[in-house]
Amino acid sequence: MATSTSTAPKKVGKLSTSVGLKIQMAVSGLIFVLFVLVHMYGNLKMFNGPDAYNGYAQFLRDVGYPLVPHEGVLWILRIVLLAALILHAHAAIVLWRRGKAARGPNAYKVKRGKKNQQTYASRTMRWGGIILLLFIVWHILQFTTLSISVGADDYSALTPYDRMIAGFQPEVWWGYAIYFVAIGALCMHIRHGAWSALQTLGWSNRYREPVFNGIAIAIAAVIFIGFMAPPTAIILGIIP
Ligand code: HEM
Repeated sequence: MATSTSTAPKKVGKLSTSVGLKIQMAVSGLIFVLFVLVHMYGNLKMFNGPDAYNGYAQFLRDVGYPLVPHEGVLWILRIVLLAALILHAHAAIVLWRRGKAARGPNAYKVKRGKKNQQTYASRTMRWGGIILLLFIVWHILQFTTLSISVGADDYSALTPYDRMIAGFQPEVWWGYAIYFVAIGALCMHIRHGAWSALQTLGWSNRYREPVFNGIAIAIAAVIFIGFMAPPTAIILGIIP
């Protein structure tokens, strides 16, 4: 009688190999970075006044109409981002578990005072990822579903421009602090992620590594400054 044996090798698809999962992480991460750059550019329209910013927010809802229904493109974007987020987190969790199992229980017992770079990087990525997930939930509750009105009684009565102004007033400095920490985590995450993706794709070598490292730091710095510029200008009263 045929019985199923637990020793039979498990059939593994190409995508479930560690390299496949790293490519899954790199591609989904890249989709996020592209979105983040476009979003950052849109937010900078706060410096061009209410009409420019509200016009941009309206454009996001109207783009493609009447070819697609109102908010059609926005919904496609939301679905793509959600799929990218799920694929990115899935690959991260599977790779982390595999790495942990492969290293064994004593892997992180390093001598006191000695810096373990691998532990540091993976810890930063893990905590950074968790902070970003929490931030995305907060961000959607604040600016998409308008369930949390920071610095105002009711966001649904305000224009997108006025919501930004209300959300980053000195009285609600903690609202600014949440963004500062989250964008800091995002930039550290992108810096390491970009560097790591270039290793995975095999583009990096001893000579190119410092250049790629520099590019990764530059992208992270641009994103930090670009994202934090409007909230900082608001809290300092530069955007009245
Ligand atoms: C200082 C940083 C940021 C500010 C001030 C900001 C502000 C905003 C505002 C005001 C909106 C609503 C726009 C509208 O009314 O049309 C929005 C939408 C959105 N933001 Fe951000 N954002 C920031 C960073 C981020 C980051 C880092 C991410 C993702 C990693 C992100 C993801 C999103 C998404 C997905 C939406 C669209 C939600 C939807 O309508 O479905 N944001 N953001």
